[in-house]
Amino acid sequence: MKYSAKDMEDIIYQYLPKCEGYQKDVIAAMNYAFMAGGKRLRPFMMKLCHDMFCNDDDDKALEVFMAAIEMIHTYSLIHDDLPALDNDLMRRGKPTVHVEFGEDIAILAGDGLLNLAYETAAEAFIKRPADTAVEQAYMYLAKKPGIYGMIGGQTLDVVMSGKTLDKEQLNYIYENKTSALIECAMAIGATLGGADEKTVQKLEEAGRAVGLAFQVQDDILDITGDEAKLGKPVLSDEKNNKTTYVSIYGMEHAAAYVKDMSERAECIIRELTVTNEDARTELVKLVNMLINRDK
Ligand code: IPE
Ligand code: IPE
Ligand code: MG
Ligand code: MG
Ligand code: MG
Repeated sequence: MKYSAKDMEDIIYQYLPKCEGYQKDVIAAMNYAFMAGGKRLRPFMMKLCHDMFCNDDDDKALEVFMAAIEMIHTYSLIHDDLPALDNDLMRRGKPTVHVEFGEDIAILAGDGLLNLAYETAAEAFIKRPADTAVEQAYMYLAKKPGIYGMIGGQTLDVVMSGKTLDKEQLNYIYENKTSALIECAMAIGATLGGADEKTVQKLEEAGRAVGLAFQVQDDILDITGDEAKLGKPVLSDEKNNKTTYVSIYGMEHAAAYVKDMSERAECIIRELTVTNEDARTELVKLVNMLINRDK
Protein backbone atom coordinates (compact mmCIF):
# COMPACT_ATOMS: atom_id res chain seq x y z
CA MET A 1 0.00 0.00 0.00
CA LYS A 2 1.38 3.38 -1.05
CA TYR A 3 1.13 6.39 1.24
CA SER A 4 -2.15 8.21 0.77
CA ALA A 5 -3.81 10.38 3.41
CA LYS A 6 -7.08 9.97 1.51
CA ASP A 7 -6.99 6.14 1.78
CA MET A 8 -6.53 6.50 5.53
CA GLU A 9 -9.41 8.96 5.72
CA ASP A 10 -11.72 6.57 3.87
CA ILE A 11 -11.14 4.13 6.73
CA ILE A 12 -11.07 6.40 9.78
CA TYR A 13 -13.93 8.76 8.86
CA GLN A 14 -16.38 5.85 9.14
CA TYR A 15 -16.06 6.00 12.90
CA LEU A 16 -16.98 9.65 13.39
CA PRO A 17 -20.21 10.44 15.24
CA LYS A 18 -23.25 11.99 13.54
CA CYS A 19 -23.70 15.65 14.30
CA GLU A 20 -27.06 15.52 16.06
CA GLY A 21 -28.71 15.71 19.47
CA TYR A 22 -28.17 18.18 22.30
CA GLN A 23 -24.45 17.37 22.15
CA LYS A 24 -24.15 18.42 18.50
CA ASP A 25 -21.98 21.46 19.35
CA VAL A 26 -19.21 19.32 20.73
CA ILE A 27 -19.57 16.75 17.92
CA ALA A 28 -19.30 19.52 15.30
CA ALA A 29 -16.03 20.67 16.86
CA MET A 30 -14.66 17.10 17.09
CA ASN A 31 -15.46 16.40 13.45
CA TYR A 32 -14.11 19.80 12.36
CA ALA A 33 -10.72 19.05 13.94
CA PHE A 34 -10.64 15.45 12.77
CA MET A 35 -11.57 16.23 9.16
CA ALA A 36 -9.47 19.40 8.84
CA GLY A 37 -6.69 17.52 7.08
CA GLY A 38 -3.44 16.24 8.47
CA LYS A 39 -0.92 13.76 7.23
CA ARG A 40 -2.55 10.71 8.88
CA LEU A 41 0.90 9.29 9.56
CA ARG A 42 -0.01 7.37 12.69
CA PRO A 43 -2.82 5.29 11.14
CA PHE A 44 -0.63 4.68 8.09
CA MET A 45 2.30 3.49 10.23
CA MET A 46 -0.09 1.27 12.15
CA LYS A 47 -1.40 -0.28 8.94
CA LEU A 48 2.07 -0.90 7.50
CA CYS A 49 3.27 -2.48 10.76
CA HIS A 50 0.23 -4.76 10.62
CA ASP A 51 0.69 -5.58 6.95
CA MET A 52 4.34 -6.57 7.42
CA PHE A 53 3.10 -9.62 9.33
CA CYS A 54 -0.40 -10.28 8.05
CA ASN A 55 -2.08 -10.18 4.65
CA ASP A 56 -5.65 -9.56 5.80
CA ASP A 57 -6.46 -6.30 4.02
CA ASP A 58 -9.90 -6.11 5.58
CA ASP A 59 -9.04 -6.43 9.28
CA LYS A 60 -11.80 -4.49 11.04
CA ALA A 61 -10.03 -4.79 14.39
CA LEU A 62 -7.11 -2.92 12.84
CA GLU A 63 -9.43 -0.28 11.36
CA VAL A 64 -10.97 0.69 14.69
CA PHE A 65 -7.51 1.11 16.20
CA MET A 66 -6.42 3.22 13.21
CA ALA A 67 -9.35 5.55 13.83
CA ALA A 68 -8.65 5.56 17.57
CA ILE A 69 -4.99 6.60 17.29
CA GLU A 70 -5.91 9.49 14.98
CA MET A 71 -8.65 10.58 17.41
CA ILE A 72 -6.13 10.65 20.26
CA HIS A 73 -3.59 12.51 18.13
CA THR A 74 -6.24 15.05 17.08
CA TYR A 75 -7.34 15.61 20.67
CA SER A 76 -3.70 16.20 21.64
CA LEU A 77 -3.47 18.89 18.95
CA ILE A 78 -6.70 20.64 20.05
CA HIS A 79 -5.46 20.84 23.63
CA ASP A 80 -1.88 21.70 22.60
CA ASP A 81 -3.19 24.76 20.73
CA LEU A 82 -5.32 26.09 23.61
CA PRO A 83 -4.52 29.54 25.04
CA ALA A 84 -3.28 27.93 28.26
CA LEU A 85 -0.79 25.78 26.33
CA ASP A 86 0.75 26.97 23.02
CA ASN A 87 -1.95 29.54 22.24
CA ASP A 88 -1.89 28.95 18.49
CA LEU A 89 -4.52 30.17 16.04
CA MET A 90 -4.07 27.88 13.03
CA ARG A 91 -3.98 24.10 12.71
CA ARG A 92 -4.17 21.90 9.63
CA GLY A 93 -4.74 25.02 7.54
CA LYS A 94 -7.78 26.18 9.49
CA PRO A 95 -8.52 28.28 12.57
CA THR A 96 -7.88 26.20 15.68
CA VAL A 97 -10.88 24.69 17.43
CA HIS A 98 -10.91 27.24 20.26
CA VAL A 99 -10.89 30.08 17.72
CA GLU A 100 -13.73 28.56 15.73
CA PHE A 101 -15.88 27.17 18.55
CA GLY A 102 -14.66 28.86 21.75
CA GLU A 103 -12.38 27.56 24.46
CA ASP A 104 -15.10 25.75 26.39
CA ILE A 105 -16.16 23.64 23.41
CA ALA A 106 -12.51 23.07 22.38
CA ILE A 107 -11.70 21.55 25.78
CA LEU A 108 -14.79 19.36 25.59
CA ALA A 109 -14.06 18.38 21.96
CA GLY A 110 -10.62 17.16 23.04
CA ASP A 111 -12.17 15.20 25.89
CA GLY A 112 -14.80 13.86 23.52
CA LEU A 113 -12.24 12.59 20.99
CA LEU A 114 -10.14 10.98 23.70
CA ASN A 115 -13.12 9.10 25.05
CA LEU A 116 -14.44 8.21 21.61
CA ALA A 117 -11.07 6.66 20.79
CA TYR A 118 -11.50 4.02 23.50
CA GLU A 119 -15.14 3.45 22.66
CA THR A 120 -14.18 2.92 19.01
CA ALA A 121 -11.18 0.67 19.70
CA ALA A 122 -13.27 -1.44 22.07
CA GLU A 123 -15.23 -2.62 19.03
CA ALA A 124 -12.17 -4.77 18.26
CA PHE A 125 -13.13 -7.00 21.22
CA ILE A 126 -16.33 -7.83 19.34
CA LYS A 127 -14.68 -8.15 15.94
CA ARG A 128 -12.07 -10.58 17.28
CA PRO A 129 -13.54 -12.22 20.41
CA ALA A 130 -11.14 -13.78 22.94
CA ASP A 131 -8.06 -12.65 21.04
CA THR A 132 -5.16 -11.71 23.34
CA ALA A 133 -3.64 -9.57 20.57
CA VAL A 134 -6.60 -7.22 20.88
CA GLU A 135 -6.15 -7.09 24.67
CA GLN A 136 -2.48 -6.20 24.24
CA ALA A 137 -3.25 -3.60 21.58
CA TYR A 138 -5.81 -2.01 23.89
CA MET A 139 -3.23 -1.84 26.69
CA TYR A 140 -0.87 0.04 24.38
CA LEU A 141 -3.66 2.45 23.50
CA ALA A 142 -4.37 2.98 27.18
CA LYS A 143 -0.79 3.50 28.29
CA LYS A 144 1.23 5.33 25.62
CA PRO A 145 -0.95 8.45 25.40
CA GLY A 146 -1.11 8.75 29.19
CA ILE A 147 1.04 10.08 32.03
CA TYR A 148 3.82 7.58 31.23
CA GLY A 149 3.71 8.75 27.61
CA MET A 150 2.29 11.72 25.72
CA ILE A 151 0.75 13.55 28.70
CA GLY A 152 4.00 13.12 30.63
CA GLY A 153 5.93 14.76 27.79
CA GLN A 154 3.43 17.59 27.37
CA THR A 155 3.58 18.19 31.14
CA LEU A 156 7.34 18.73 31.25
CA ASP A 157 7.07 20.76 28.01
CA VAL A 158 4.68 23.27 29.58
CA VAL A 159 6.28 23.28 33.03
CA MET A 160 9.70 24.03 31.53
CA SER A 161 8.55 26.75 29.12
CA GLY A 162 10.94 29.68 29.43
CA LYS A 163 13.45 27.59 31.40
CA THR A 164 16.62 25.90 30.24
CA LEU A 165 16.47 22.16 29.82
CA ASP A 166 19.24 19.64 30.26
CA LYS A 167 19.76 16.86 27.71
CA GLU A 168 17.85 14.32 29.75
CA GLN A 169 14.80 16.57 30.17
CA LEU A 170 14.73 17.47 26.47
CA ASN A 171 14.92 13.81 25.58
CA TYR A 172 12.16 12.95 28.03
CA ILE A 173 9.89 15.58 26.47
CA TYR A 174 10.46 14.39 22.90
CA GLU A 175 10.27 10.67 23.66
CA ASN A 176 6.98 11.21 25.40
CA LYS A 177 5.10 14.08 23.78
CA THR A 178 5.87 12.79 20.28
CA SER A 179 7.47 9.33 20.16
CA ALA A 180 4.93 7.73 22.48
CA LEU A 181 2.01 7.97 20.01
CA ILE A 182 4.19 6.79 17.12
CA GLU A 183 5.44 3.83 19.19
CA CYS A 184 1.83 3.19 20.10
CA ALA A 185 0.73 3.12 16.46
CA MET A 186 3.54 0.81 15.39
CA ALA A 187 3.23 -1.56 18.35
CA ILE A 188 -0.53 -1.89 17.92
CA GLY A 189 -0.23 -2.57 14.18
CA ALA A 190 2.40 -5.26 14.66
CA THR A 191 0.56 -6.84 17.60
CA LEU A 192 -2.70 -7.09 15.65
CA GLY A 193 -0.73 -8.42 12.67
CA GLY A 194 0.49 -11.30 14.81
CA ALA A 195 4.13 -10.28 15.33
CA ASP A 196 5.87 -11.85 18.34
CA GLU A 197 6.70 -9.87 21.47
CA LYS A 198 10.36 -9.31 20.60
CA THR A 199 9.45 -7.96 17.18
CA VAL A 200 6.89 -5.61 18.68
CA GLN A 201 9.55 -4.31 21.07
CA LYS A 202 11.92 -3.71 18.14
CA LEU A 203 9.21 -1.71 16.41
CA GLU A 204 8.64 0.33 19.56
CA GLU A 205 12.35 1.12 19.51
CA ALA A 206 12.09 2.13 15.84
CA GLY A 207 9.04 4.25 16.70
CA ARG A 208 11.00 6.03 19.42
CA ALA A 209 13.68 6.99 16.89
CA VAL A 210 11.07 8.03 14.31
CA GLY A 211 9.37 10.23 16.92
CA LEU A 212 12.64 11.94 17.87
CA ALA A 213 13.43 12.62 14.21
CA PHE A 214 9.86 13.79 13.67
CA GLN A 215 9.84 16.25 16.59
CA VAL A 216 13.24 17.74 15.79
CA GLN A 217 12.10 18.22 12.17
CA ASP A 218 8.94 19.86 13.56
CA ASP A 219 11.16 22.23 15.56
CA ILE A 220 13.21 22.99 12.44
CA LEU A 221 10.05 23.71 10.45
CA ASP A 222 8.81 25.95 13.25
CA ILE A 223 11.69 28.24 12.21
CA THR A 224 12.25 27.61 8.51
CA GLY A 225 8.84 26.35 7.38
CA ASP A 226 6.15 27.95 5.29
CA GLU A 227 2.91 28.58 7.20
CA ALA A 228 0.74 27.94 4.16
CA LYS A 229 2.32 24.51 3.66
CA LEU A 230 2.50 23.62 7.34
CA GLY A 231 -1.06 24.74 7.99
CA LYS A 232 0.07 26.05 11.39
CA PRO A 233 1.98 29.10 12.56
CA VAL A 234 5.76 29.27 12.47
CA LEU A 235 7.79 30.69 15.38
CA SER A 236 5.35 29.23 17.91
CA ASP A 237 8.27 27.86 19.96
CA GLU A 238 9.99 31.25 20.15
CA LYS A 239 6.71 32.93 21.11
CA ASN A 240 6.30 30.45 23.98
CA ASN A 241 9.96 30.58 25.02
CA LYS A 242 10.40 26.87 24.37
CA THR A 243 13.79 25.32 24.61
CA THR A 244 14.08 22.97 21.63
CA TYR A 245 16.76 20.77 20.10
CA VAL A 246 17.36 23.58 17.60
CA SER A 247 17.66 26.33 20.22
CA ILE A 248 20.24 24.30 22.16
CA TYR A 249 22.29 22.67 19.40
CA GLY A 250 21.65 24.82 16.34
CA MET A 251 20.12 24.11 12.96
CA GLU A 252 22.96 22.09 11.48
CA HIS A 253 23.19 19.66 14.38
CA ALA A 254 19.43 19.35 14.42
CA ALA A 255 19.32 18.36 10.74
CA ALA A 256 22.08 15.80 11.32
CA TYR A 257 20.18 14.40 14.29
CA VAL A 258 17.01 13.96 12.20
CA LYS A 259 19.06 12.01 9.66
CA ASP A 260 20.73 9.88 12.37
CA MET A 261 17.46 8.98 14.05
CA SER A 262 15.79 8.13 10.75
CA GLU A 263 18.71 5.87 9.87
CA ARG A 264 18.48 4.19 13.26
CA ALA A 265 14.80 3.49 12.66
CA GLU A 266 15.46 2.23 9.14
CA CYS A 267 18.16 -0.18 10.40
CA ILE A 268 15.82 -1.68 12.98
CA ILE A 269 13.03 -2.09 10.43
CA ARG A 270 15.35 -3.72 7.89
CA GLU A 271 16.53 -6.31 10.43
CA LEU A 272 13.03 -7.62 11.19
CA THR A 273 11.76 -10.92 9.89
CA VAL A 274 8.59 -10.03 8.00
CA THR A 275 6.22 -11.85 5.68
CA ASN A 276 5.41 -8.91 3.42
CA GLU A 277 8.43 -7.14 1.91
CA ASP A 278 6.30 -4.52 0.16
CA ALA A 279 4.94 -3.25 3.47
CA ARG A 280 8.48 -3.03 4.87
CA THR A 281 9.63 -1.08 1.80
CA GLU A 282 6.75 1.37 2.23
CA LEU A 283 7.51 1.82 5.93
CA VAL A 284 11.18 2.55 5.20
CA LYS A 285 10.09 5.01 2.49
CA LEU A 286 7.82 6.76 4.95
CA VAL A 287 10.58 7.04 7.55
CA ASN A 288 12.87 8.58 4.95
CA MET A 289 10.16 10.92 3.75
CA LEU A 290 10.03 12.40 7.24
CA ILE A 291 13.58 13.76 6.96
CA ASN A 292 12.80 15.87 3.93
CA ARG A 293 9.25 16.82 4.78
CA ASP A 294 8.20 20.45 4.55
CA LYS A 295 4.82 19.97 6.25
C1 IPE B 1 2.00 17.45 14.91
O1 IPE B 1 1.86 16.18 14.36
C2 IPE B 1 2.39 17.35 16.35
C3 IPE B 1 3.74 16.81 16.55
C4 IPE B 1 3.93 15.72 17.20
C5 IPE B 1 4.90 17.53 16.05
P1 IPE B 1 1.67 15.98 12.78
O2 IPE B 1 2.74 16.77 12.06
O3 IPE B 1 1.62 14.52 12.48
O4 IPE B 1 0.26 16.67 12.52
P2 IPE B 1 -0.85 16.37 11.43
O5 IPE B 1 -1.59 15.18 11.90
O6 IPE B 1 -0.18 16.13 10.11
O7 IPE B 1 -1.71 17.60 11.44
C1 IPE C 1 3.29 18.97 20.52
O1 IPE C 1 4.50 19.50 20.08
C2 IPE C 1 3.14 17.53 20.41
C3 IPE C 1 1.80 17.10 20.92
C4 IPE C 1 1.69 16.18 21.80
C5 IPE C 1 0.57 17.74 20.43
P1 IPE C 1 4.37 20.93 19.39
O2 IPE C 1 3.66 21.89 20.29
O3 IPE C 1 5.69 21.35 18.86
O4 IPE C 1 3.41 20.55 18.15
P2 IPE C 1 2.90 21.60 17.09
O5 IPE C 1 4.11 22.27 16.49
O6 IPE C 1 2.00 22.57 17.81
O7 IPE C 1 2.18 20.76 16.07
MG1 MG D 1 3.26 22.16 22.33
MG1 MG E 1 2.13 23.34 19.65
MG1 MG F 1 6.02 22.35 17.00
